[in-house]
Amino acid sequence: MRQFECINGEMVIGGIPATKIADKFGTPVYVTDESALRENFRRINKAFSRHMPTHIHYACKANTNLAILRILKQEGSYIDAVSIGEVETCLRAGFSPDRIMFTGVCVSTKELEAVVSKGVLINIDSFSEMKRLAGIKSRIPISIRVNPDVGAGHHDHVVTGSRKSKFGIPLADILKAYSESLDLGLIPVGLHAHIGAGVQEIDPFVKVTDVLVSIAKEIEEKLRIELEFIDIGGGIGIPYKPDEKPMDVDLLAQEVTARIKAGCSVETVAIEPGRYIVADTTVLLTKVVDIKETPEKNFACIDAGFNTLIRPSFYGSYHHIAVANKFDASGEVIYDVVGPICESGDFLARDRLLPKLNEGDVIAVYDAGAYGFSMSSQYNSRPRCREVLVYNGTANIIREMETIDDILRHQRIPSRLMV
Ligand SMILES: Cc1ncc(COP(=O)(O)O)c(C=O)c1O
Repeated sequence: MRQFECINGEMVIGGIPATKIADKFGTPVYVTDESALRENFRRINKAFSRHMPTHIHYACKANTNLAILRILKQEGSYIDAVSIGEVETCLRAGFSPDRIMFTGVCVSTKELEAVVSKGVLINIDSFSEMKRLAGIKSRIPISIRVNPDVGAGHHDHVVTGSRKSKFGIPLADILKAYSESLDLGLIPVGLHAHIGAGVQEIDPFVKVTDVLVSIAKEIEEKLRIELEFIDIGGGIGIPYKPDEKPMDVDLLAQEVTARIKAGCSVETVAIEPGRYIVADTTVLLTKVVDIKETPEKNFACIDAGFNTLIRPSFYGSYHHIAVANKFDASGEVIYDVVGPICESGDFLARDRLLPKLNEGDVIAVYDAGAYGFSMSSQYNSRPRCREVLVYNGTANIIREMETIDDILRHQRIPSRLMV
């Protein structure tokens, strides 16, 4: 968990007091610190590239804001995209097609045609997708995603590498997949697996690397295919709770790269972190709009709900919460921090010891940069909120707040209903 400066009892983000940001831009608002983003990218890039040529494919599903993508482009990032929408977004942020890998699941022929037309590398998820791709265009490089039978993650919904998940080509069929790709006139250059998300231990990454290395070696020996890269996927967890420790990415990089170098002739490692790069760069600022004290609970009612940040309701995730304008005050009262969505499952935190709250207090929800805005919605007809980038004392809007017009823009009432 990132530590923030406290000046005169106030939380400071990127050189600006959080309350000033909340007053100027309104709440709820996602606030991203550019320096933190650059630091995170550099740390993981350095950890791996010390050992071997490395491609960091930022998993943009975590946060597709164009300004954030632009910063990562400047840092030398590659991209993991999972839809034509993400491919298009990254191209518009300035990434060249050769920096983008498309890893889709349940890919329709229409989407495949659109992705092929953009000239990005396709990471094949099934035999059907591979045949359909060859029908659209052949003599193009591809990567293949294996289901490694190594799964891990912070919640069942995000474990992708286990045998029963929908992702990838089963381990038992992977040699056949590479052989068929040659028969179809495709050029296999990569091998990929993704075990899941929010993985806090190194061990599952080591296990999946072993699986990938042994596949690479087998296809070298049996099919004479020399791959350009092994991609171990994303999923590096972060410490959401104050007592958790960050993963030692230097050790992770050492373990993974040593195995690749010793076990096969692949020369480049790829890795697809999303959360690790963006999660702790961003806080969600939200205001207390109502305090409700009932015989059972104290509710701090805020202006952000699961429409703004769904992770607590959807995954039961913990996000640390602080009171930005009482940053050095001690906890006094236990609150459920709840939002304006009309469902009792709408909460950002439960049973949290916080300083005594008043209406107008500014709540800071930590580690909101990954799967925060990108999973937000207009549920209950609430426009999606603003995003702001801070850097050395300056703040810029990087996404405007939506309006009711934005919500209604694509709706149509048939004329026969207008009488
Ligand atoms: C294929 C793939 N790569 C990378 C990621 C990024 O995961 P994380 O943000 O946990 O690093 C995901 C997330 O689901 C994924 O599906």
